[in-house]
Amino acid sequence: MIIQNVKIQNIRSYEFAELPINNGVNAIYGNNGSGKTSLLEAIYFGLSLKSFRTSKTEQIIRNNELKGEILITGAEKTIRSIKNKTNSKAIDENNEKKIARKELLMLFPTCVIENKEFSFTDAQPDYKRKYLNKILFYVEQDFDNLYEKLTKIHKQRLFCLKNGQKNEILIWNKALIEIEPQITRLNKFLINDLNDFFTSNSNLSDFFGKNDWLKGINFKYNPGFNENIGLEQHIHINFEKEFMINKPLVGLHKRNFDILLDQDIASSILSRGQQKVLSCILHLLSKEFIEKSLKIQPLVLIDDICSELDKENQHLMLKYLNNMNTQAILTSIEKIALDPKFNVNLFHVEQKGDISNVKR
Ligand SMILES: Nc1ncnc2c1ncn2[C@@H]1O[C@H](COP(=O)(O)OP(=O)(O)OP(=O)(O)O)[C@@H](O)[C@H]1O
Ligand SMILES: [Mg+2]
Repeated sequence: MIIQNVKIQNIRSYEFAELPINNGVNAIYGNNGSGKTSLLEAIYFGLSLKSFRTSKTEQIIRNNELKGEILITGAEKTIRSIKNKTNSKAIDENNEKKIARKELLMLFPTCVIENKEFSFTDAQPDYKRKYLNKILFYVEQDFDNLYEKLTKIHKQRLFCLKNGQKNEILIWNKALIEIEPQITRLNKFLINDLNDFFTSNSNLSDFFGKNDWLKGINFKYNPGFNENIGLEQHIHINFEKEFMINKPLVGLHKRNFDILLDQDIASSILSRGQQKVLSCILHLLSKEFIEKSLKIQPLVLIDDICSELDKENQHLMLKYLNNMNTQAILTSIEKIALDPKFNVNLFHVEQKGDISNVKR
């Protein structure tokens, strides 16, 4: 859903700020520490009740305050998200009712490209797993249910391993073996689609034209265990060992995917800037997957767009966002170099938290 206006109160360095948002690309620039990332973080929190910077979301509350609030006015709904020291909630302003997090995510899907995502190709497995989980959450109806079951199985297995419960774990091992083919199948389908979409997506052809090396990129799913041996056999072989170390050695908690340049691991070959280009493209692909499935354009948030990207790749990113009519909010330290034909709403943030609309 298109968002039209954001008001934030007592979030990070902001006592209060208001930002009218255009349908297309919005760019915010300002010095280090002026509050650019905080604005994106506030918007992301408003639409997901999570922060992309920290799992301790209470940190987003302005120092010495008890709660922070974000009011996001969308085309059809206005959402008030409130964070206090112990709780996060979102309220539909039209009927004053609480909105569950999952409903909020479906109403306002967002794709964030921020510092951690820049090294996506080199990211820890859990990072890439989150990427897959997120797409599957939006594109596969059954996935959410399946994922909840899997999380429970993993928790119960861990509990049994920590407490030496060798009989009880058998139930959870069986449940894991049962659920594995469904999880592996969905993830493999997704990686297949990702490979197809990556190579055949005409919206990305400009990126491929400039960055020739992209043609060698491909993705390979890793189910988290050796498929030739099979999960059941793995569990059997490692039974005693897992109890010795009190943690799982095998399972779907290690599922992941490799990003390859031809046959090699891409992160060991690509430069930092190239990795950022690839990370950005992967996030744009996730946006397109979600859009295709929900028929809703996800909001794209890109923090520090200029760092590591050369001028031409920055230009291609803006061109892509413009061509796709994507609603996006970008930040950068310098005023971003803009082709006059792009329709971009430009803001400047100042150290004391003032935000001003800037004429081009
Ligand atoms: N809970 C908080 N309460 C008050 N101020 C905070 C809080 N958390 C962070 N800050 C301050 O908010 C300011 C803005 O930080 P932010 O990360 O948004 O800046 P930025 O514009 O993204 O900077 P950079 O260009 O370096 O990325 C910083 O000075 C930071 O110290
Ligand atoms: Mg920042």
